[in-house]
Amino acid sequence: MVQSCPDASPMKWHQAHTTWFFETFVLRPFLPDYKPFREEFRWLFNSYYNSLGEGPPEKHLRASFSRPSLDEIVGFRGHVDEAMGRLFVCGTNEEAARRITLGLNHEQQHQELMLTDIKHALFSNPLRPAYDATPLERARDASRSELMWHRFDDGVTEIGYPIDPANCLDFCFDNETPRHKVYLESFAIANRGITCREYLEFISDNAYARPQVWLSEGWEAVRKQEWQAPLYWERDATDSTGWRIFTLRGWHPLSVLLDTPVCHVSFFEADAFARWRGCRLPNEAEWEIAANGRPIHGNLLDTGRLHPAMARGSGLDQFFGDCWVWTGSPYTGYPGYKPLPGALGEYNGKFMSSQMILRGGSCVTPASHLRATYRNFFQPATRWQFTGIRLAA
Ligand SMILES: [Fe+2]
Repeated sequence: MVQSCPDASPMKWHQAHTTWFFETFVLRPFLPDYKPFREEFRWLFNSYYNSLGEGPPEKHLRASFSRPSLDEIVGFRGHVDEAMGRLFVCGTNEEAARRITLGLNHEQQHQELMLTDIKHALFSNPLRPAYDATPLERARDASRSELMWHRFDDGVTEIGYPIDPANCLDFCFDNETPRHKVYLESFAIANRGITCREYLEFISDNAYARPQVWLSEGWEAVRKQEWQAPLYWERDATDSTGWRIFTLRGWHPLSVLLDTPVCHVSFFEADAFARWRGCRLPNEAEWEIAANGRPIHGNLLDTGRLHPAMARGSGLDQFFGDCWVWTGSPYTGYPGYKPLPGALGEYNGKFMSSQMILRGGSCVTPASHLRATYRNFFQPATRWQFTGIRLAA
């Protein structure tokens, strides 16, 4: 039932809501004679789909759902799983197939949210328990990768997912379409993400106290939220760096993780860091051009590490996994963008204001969930996701 910050949801709610998605968008419309598990759940476990009727309960109330019990939620899941099995036996039409694929991708998004929410919940617990007590290994300084630049020429190129409308099993989110032309000036992108060691220099240079390096809204967030370091960093006089970091594998002295990518920074911190270094954040087209054609391979959920890992070598690395990187691009629709028809049109399109694009996935993103064209988005002060920095120039 724990909901330790307004962004997070209780685990029980995640299980009920991902189940609700299949009941609402697949079973009710497509399985003849389907009997809903409990009629109130249509409203209770709706997240934000206003066109389904009565508005869902406010998000901050999710921690108050002591009833239905966990047993009843597990029963709901079993009921829906059994009905999905019957639907597969009856056969589905193309629209049902598209929605099932969307439901599976939705569930993968919640798998990631569950780990980020658990991390925040355990950090908020005074005992600060570890999710997995096996410690992370020390990142070895000798093999650390120096920051290098990779240059790309100017020109007209294309970004976005080339969806095949005739193939109901071809999947991307609606916000990745349509594929379209963009013009890019020549640019350079860093070979890897910014490390804790590099971010510590920014902190040591007193950057959190210097308004000159911050956007106006960012400076306001620094002052109001009293930011002095990324989320999950805490002062620790016993470590040579003066800091320790809370991870899903418990506390670690920062000295052990110095060469791993910095994560849990807001867009404002990423932007300020880039400005302080005399660089900038990549825009999303630059990131996509640099990432395009690379295998979806890296420190993703499937490695089980649950924390960003050190880059190796000087080649372009760390496009997928470790931490999502903030881009300088606001979240808007691509030219000609059309949301899905009906209530599912509320999935992505209605959030296209006041949020920034992130790319590449994190150490808690399932590998089969990602694409080079994948667009994640959060409000610029958000820090509870695994969010980091890659520089461009
Ligand atoms: Fe959801």
